[in-house]
Amino acid sequence: MRIPFIRSGRDYAVEPLRVDDSATLARIHREDFVPSWDEGDFESMLGEDVMFGYKTVEVGRARSGATGFVLARNISGEAEIITIAVARAHRRKGLGRLLMDAVLRELHGARAEALFLEVDEGNAAAVALYRQLGFREVGKRSAYYHSAAGTPSNALVMRRDLR
Ligand SMILES: CC(C)(COP(=O)(O)OP(=O)(O)OC[C@H]1O[C@@H](n2cnc3c(N)ncnc32)[C@H](O)[C@@H]1OP(=O)(O)O)[C@@H](O)C(=O)NCCC(=O)NCCS
Repeated sequence: MRIPFIRSGRDYAVEPLRVDDSATLARIHREDFVPSWDEGDFESMLGEDVMFGYKTVEVGRARSGATGFVLARNISGEAEIITIAVARAHRRKGLGRLLMDAVLRELHGARAEALFLEVDEGNAAAVALYRQLGFREVGKRSAYYHSAAGTPSNALVMRRDLR
């Protein structure tokens, strides 16, 4: 099931991701992730049947591209957030929450069982968002991430039951 269009207040809307969003997704991804994924990476991921995702766009300014996006994968009812990012200029406006809600809604429609994700335990914004949405910690991977300077940090594995 795809959610065609959901309004969020007056300013933003959520729409399904399309392969031709790949350049914009790479631009947003670059703001925060090292190594970042390029346009070709997003094109090939979005070409996979099990992948789906959503973007936020400013209403009336759809041509200026996405302001945030989430990419997820659903394999036989076990789903995973691949990545989520909101452009810095658009944060703390509820977009991250809106994107995650769209994923949860699609997965409920698909009768999926659980949604997993991995997050740097020091990423306070993301951890708070996920906890608010009912994710709980189910594991930890030591020194899973490395900053650009090579500093290691742990990944929390989180799960949200869908049934
Ligand atoms: C994590 C991220 C997607 C949140 O997006 P956002 O649109 O700013 O988040 P929202 O405005 O929807 O906030 C929802 C909740 O998340 C939490 N949150 C968001 N930003 C936060 C911050 N800077 N500090 C603490 N909590 C924060 C809060 O609980 C917030 O709820 P509240 O507004 O009622 O307090 C965004 O910070 C981001 O793109 N970060 C960089 C990429 C990243 O780290 N992705 C996650 C990888 S696992």
